[in-house]
Amino acid sequence: MIKKKKIVITGGSGRFGNIIKKTYNKSKFNIFFPTKKNLNILNLNSIKKYLKLKKPKYLIHLAGLSRPMYLHDTNIEKSIDLNIIGTANITKICSQLKIKLIYVSTSYVYPGNKGNYKETDPIYPINNYALSKMGGEASVRMYNNSLTIRASMTEKPFIHNEAFSDFVTNFIYHEDFVKLLFRVIEKKGIINLGGKSQTVYDFARSENIKVKKISAKKFFGLKRKIDIGMNLNKLKKIVKKL
Ligand SMILES: NC(=O)c1ccc[n+]([C@@H]2O[C@H](COP(=O)([O-])OP(=O)(O)OC[C@H]3O[C@@H](n4cnc5c(N)ncnc54)[C@H](OP(=O)(O)O)[C@@H]3O)[C@@H](O)[C@H]2O)c1
Repeated sequence: MIKKKKIVITGGSGRFGNIIKKTYNKSKFNIFFPTKKNLNILNLNSIKKYLKLKKPKYLIHLAGLSRPMYLHDTNIEKSIDLNIIGTANITKICSQLKIKLIYVSTSYVYPGNKGNYKETDPIYPINNYALSKMGGEASVRMYNNSLTIRASMTEKPFIHNEAFSDFVTNFIYHEDFVKLLFRVIEKKGIINLGGKSQTVYDFARSENIKVKKISAKKFFGLKRKIDIGMNLNKLKKIVKKL
């Protein structure tokens, strides 16, 4: 009989957590999805109590503040609490209990002026959301038994009728992301994870030919186009084929 990997996932009630719940391989993994009431990332005792009870080998940390992105400008306190302090709390307890920590960060930490970013390239977040995720990365990366995943993903089907034609990223659907996530959890360090680099418009159009082009430059009032495209060579070596 195969021994199932015991995993705790924070933020299991969120957008991405719900997709994991529906799609993970139940014969390989034994996964717990605590609610905020059972494991509150702002409360060290609550984290410790839950993890001491479940004794997982891995913790995938998704809990935090994500979208809409303007929340990170209008409520920086919440963004700092959940994404920086909450992640630091999780890291402290994982390190005390020797639990492997997998943190889902974002491709937005890259500067966005050239694309093809490798994991070793300097980061320079382009907005408050990305700054808060960089803050989370800082503590996770201090803990050696950890993996930071810089992610670019979105819901299926693509939810908008318009898409940016001057914004390059590595969108991949949440469902496809789940498969790759479980293939890299034994790794440590940083891994870029997403689909091929392309504009959001090209990504959306491959499924819906009616989607309309809009400009991110105009939408965000920027002087240049954004290219946060990631180099996926490290990921490709690990999973062999995307
Ligand atoms: N979705 C994407 O496309 C994407 C792309 C790149 C990276 N990411 C990263 O992936 C992670 C998940 O994203 P998501 O879009 O699924 O997020 P989400 O839908 O906003 O979900 C956030 C989760 O965090 C939980 N949470 C909030 N405060 C908490 C607390 N104090 N203690 C414990 N749990 C708490 C929420 O629980 P309640 O619902 O009970 O408040 C919810 O389950 C985030 O870290 C995000 O930065 C996401």
